[in-house]
Amino acid sequence: MKETSRAVFKRPEGTADLLGKDIALWQKFLKCADGVFTLRGYKRIETPIIEREDLFKRGIGEATDVVSKEMYSAISGGNLSKIKTGENLSSRSKLALRPEGTAGTVRAICENGLTEVDSMPAKYYYAGPMFRAERPQKGRQRQFYQIGTEMLGSNSPYLDAEAVLMLLDFFNRVGIESSILTLDINSMGCEECRPAFREAVKEYIENNSEHMCDTCMERANANPLRAFDCKNETCAKIMDSAPNIHDYLCDDCKEHFEIVKSLLDASNIKYNVNNKLVRGLDYYTRTVFEITANIGLGSQSAIGGGGRYDKLSLEIGDKNLPGIGFALGFERCALVLDELGKIDDSQESCDIFIACLCSDARNIAFELANKLRETGFITRTDERDTEGRWQNIKSLKAQLKLANKLQSRYAIIIGEDEIAENKAQIKDMISHSDVALSINEIQNYFKGLKD
Ligand code: HAM
Repeated sequence: MKETSRAVFKRPEGTADLLGKDIALWQKFLKCADGVFTLRGYKRIETPIIEREDLFKRGIGEATDVVSKEMYSAISGGNLSKIKTGENLSSRSKLALRPEGTAGTVRAICENGLTEVDSMPAKYYYAGPMFRAERPQKGRQRQFYQIGTEMLGSNSPYLDAEAVLMLLDFFNRVGIESSILTLDINSMGCEECRPAFREAVKEYIENNSEHMCDTCMERANANPLRAFDCKNETCAKIMDSAPNIHDYLCDDCKEHFEIVKSLLDASNIKYNVNNKLVRGLDYYTRTVFEITANIGLGSQSAIGGGGRYDKLSLEIGDKNLPGIGFALGFERCALVLDELGKIDDSQESCDIFIACLCSDARNIAFELANKLRETGFITRTDERDTEGRWQNIKSLKAQLKLANKLQSRYAIIIGEDEIAENKAQIKDMISHSDVALSINEIQNYFKGLKD
């Protein structure tokens, strides 16, 4: 026989398989998101994982790390052949894996005309994987999961405060209490006042050019504000004394920011005004915010962040609608919850286990299990085989041991004696009490326990 070569594959670096307790936690996050966001009128949206590359270039900004260094291109087989032969691809054919959810969601809101009844703002939330080609480390992956919200269609500072409160409310619901969190907020100004600030920062960087890193210098022209994000220690020190946005804000931006702060004060939310907070994406205007956790994470301590993007819809869509949103990182939240000891390790969930002690019992159990599931009980039977022989029946002791491992609350026992009497034993696995019931009565018996 010809020998075939075998391959054992591992997942790509910086990705993870979500299993067991991670899946349970992800489902809890989705439930909490639904609970917290729908209370404020947000609806779920799903947008494609691939979008046109230029959506992100225009929306997020070509000078950002996310776009210039971390974006994955998605090239179809046909287009790959074109690239190999030196043919240029049209911009419609250049696709990318989404590095974040805002650009796609804003595109979808504009494209589908999703503003609400009577021009109420469009409010949507999303949950799913994002992709950034970063160097993997604790809390930093190449494929990671975000949950985020986007509001499009209102300038109101009340919606900025709502976004911050909503994110904190979400963290609280999943078990990350405010006492371990730090909230930083800032205003990035608007198209009226930001150009003067940008110029001042650019001049400042140029005056310090001999000490700044090459990346900051390269970006000094295209987007000098990115220097506030630079991780280089010397650059960070220099940027500590850079011009302060709050000295440049126009009256409207000042008033807007004051209202946001007063609403947070009125809700007893503690925050720091951090005039260096510019966030890593170019679409922000006015309010920006970031929440960091002080346990469970190393340098990647930001578990959520967001801000206003009043010009994004004009940049990538055909509407001029101001907006605000945020996103939180699932993996980083999971690390925090793990450190807090708040991740439920019990992966098994079973209400009723049916132990079959003879082969005839299998048919009865098959039918009964389906009836119990109709009534809403998670019902399992012994699905193991012994070395390929599924026909083998394990002892009652072995089956009850399995029921315990599955954390089943009840066990139903059906053997030859029970079949002869058309009965089954029902065992309460906690109190260890037994009751014998006619097989036809069992569904109603459990229904009664539920009501
Ligand atoms: P972001 O700050 O880039 O914002 O990401 C939001 C959150 O996603 C971060 O706080 C972090 O928890 C998580 N995250 C980001 N990158 C990674 C990574 N490589 N590995 C693991 N987790 C990560 C945005 O994405 C904006 N779209 C937020 C927004 C929505 N702004 C307005 N609307």
